[in-house]
Amino acid sequence: MFNFFRSVKTQDALSVKPKHIAIIMDGNGRWAKKRLMPRMSGHRKGLESVKTVITQCQKLNIPFLTLFAFSTENWLRPSQEVKFLMSLFQDSIKKESSALIKNNIRFKLIGDRKPFPKKLNDKINSLEKFTEENTGLTLSIAINYGGRWDIVNAVNEYRKQNHFKKTFTQKNLIQNLSLNFAPDPDLLIRTGGEKRISNFLIWQFSYTELYFTEKLWPDFNEKAFMAALFEFQKRERRYGKTSEQL
Ligand code: IPE
Ligand code: IPE
Ligand code: MG
Repeated sequence: MFNFFRSVKTQDALSVKPKHIAIIMDGNGRWAKKRLMPRMSGHRKGLESVKTVITQCQKLNIPFLTLFAFSTENWLRPSQEVKFLMSLFQDSIKKESSALIKNNIRFKLIGDRKPFPKKLNDKINSLEKFTEENTGLTLSIAINYGGRWDIVNAVNEYRKQNHFKKTFTQKNLIQNLSLNFAPDPDLLIRTGGEKRISNFLIWQFSYTELYFTEKLWPDFNEKAFMAALFEFQKRERRYGKTSEQL
């Protein structure tokens, strides 16, 4: 009961909330290493933090959450780890589908799906279709995603529409990026202590507030999430203007 009242109070205290949060979920390997466990157990434990942030976004009515799960560069990891991660994604999508549907979540996958097995692609497509009309949180998972891939892919998509003679505009690009259904992220959270973007949403982060925390992803809990939101609401977003103009 006490916890319930405390969490209502915390929500009220947030006067400015991001509409779109992007997260680089980093530090699973180090979390496991610290415990003398294989890296894979860190990835598994990281799933609990995924559930925590989804629940928090729902509680706070944050409409968009985008999670970086596997980059185009992560294929360079040992093949055993890559295989493990791919099967973890496949299992999680299968296992969590009904919970996503039940919770009114609109599911999206962003990234290059071409190398995925057909079975996985079928599952992703049907979950996206099935949750298309859901009105709650839009949850985008970035798998085999790279910001550079996204931009080149968007240009190629545009070229397919055969507008060769027209001048290419920012709008043309934005309409063909994989996050074309969402506003740019207001807040990026990166766990694990590194202060870099690692080829995530390089176009969309132009005016995103960046928040870096030493916490490793499996340790990222409700308190750590709220700390990021409290830091976010202290930031003054000027978009090139002066403070006085706001
Ligand atoms: C993030 O954790 C998960 C993925 C990139 C798939 P890491 O696996 O990168 O963990 P660290 O950075 O090695 O600790
Ligand atoms: C970024 O983490 C990618 C994901 C979290 C999916 P990495 O661990 O791959 O990033 P770098 O290699 O340290 O930049
Ligand atoms: Mg890492």
